[in-house]
Amino acid sequence: MEIKKVAVIGGGTMGNGIAHVFAMNGIPVNLIETKQEFADRAMATIEKNLDRMVAKEKIVSEAKVATLESISVFLNIKEGVKGVDLVIEAVPENLKIKTSVWKAVDEAAADHTIFASNTSSISITKLAGLTNRADKFIGMHFFNPVPVMKLVEIVKGLDTSEETYQVVEETSKLLAKVPVPVNDMPGFVSNRVLMPMINEAVFAVYEGVATPEHVDDVMKLGMAHPMGPLRLADFIGLDVCLDILNVLYEGFKDPKYRPCPLLVKMVDAGKLGNKTGEGFFSYH
Ligand code: CAA
Repeated sequence: MEIKKVAVIGGGTMGNGIAHVFAMNGIPVNLIETKQEFADRAMATIEKNLDRMVAKEKIVSEAKVATLESISVFLNIKEGVKGVDLVIEAVPENLKIKTSVWKAVDEAAADHTIFASNTSSISITKLAGLTNRADKFIGMHFFNPVPVMKLVEIVKGLDTSEETYQVVEETSKLLAKVPVPVNDMPGFVSNRVLMPMINEAVFAVYEGVATPEHVDDVMKLGMAHPMGPLRLADFIGLDVCLDILNVLYEGFKDPKYRPCPLLVKMVDAGKLGNKTGEGFFSYH
């Protein structure tokens, strides 16, 4: 089966990046948002990121125009998923929101359509159970910034079929990404490894071992990380990091995943990182 058209639900940071890479690689996209202003913001972000790629001579300006032209905006799930071969959901990490989205998609999509969630923490098996096609349900976990990061962590739910996996693996390669298969367990592989590192960095600050700047310097200069763990936590969102740590903690019932009290306090104070202008570092 060939993926000729996709629907991306949600035009936030991840959703607009996912729409960008599909459209840029010749696969038309229906981008589904809840309000015109959110859709406009998503399209403006895609255009800005395409301009950056033109300026860096990664693509020509005709490719920018063609990419934008192959993205159609919809404000309604029923209309937006009509006639697509793959639906990728990138709505907020909230089970209530994801439940209502997947129920609506399941009713409206064609029988052959594959369903993929970009969730970073919710069980793919659980989301698949909201639909009547657990064999065609899979995780396609992209990384921010989507146009830059090579990885797609492909998460197989308990009932995901091998055929579904193969189609999604091939499609990821068409996007010039590198697909890596993992099974459905809390945090998959990416966040099971990344979040304890971030949490430990927060503990180092909490216990007065070093300042945020110095913790990050150690990891950047000693381990060649492009960003230190605390700058990365701000980039991901401290609320998102806390949510994922809680999923790991609840999922494994293992105290090694307990979120650092300083992380909890910062989220309570609304210091969520880049998106609020302040986290471990200031972005004003
Ligand atoms: N769209 C297109 N291109 C972009 C871009 C975007 N949104 N953002 C950056 N770029 C390009 C830049 O144009 C630049 O291109 P060149 O190499 O050709 O110059 C390149 O990416 C690097 O960008 P910058 O020079 O602006 O800045 P940088 O060198 O500091 O790199 C970074 C920025 C790519 C974000 C780098 O710091 C990095 O790789 N950081 C780690 C990111 C990371 O770990 N992401 C995963 C987060 S976890 C997640 O997403 C999932 C989860 O479940 C929590």
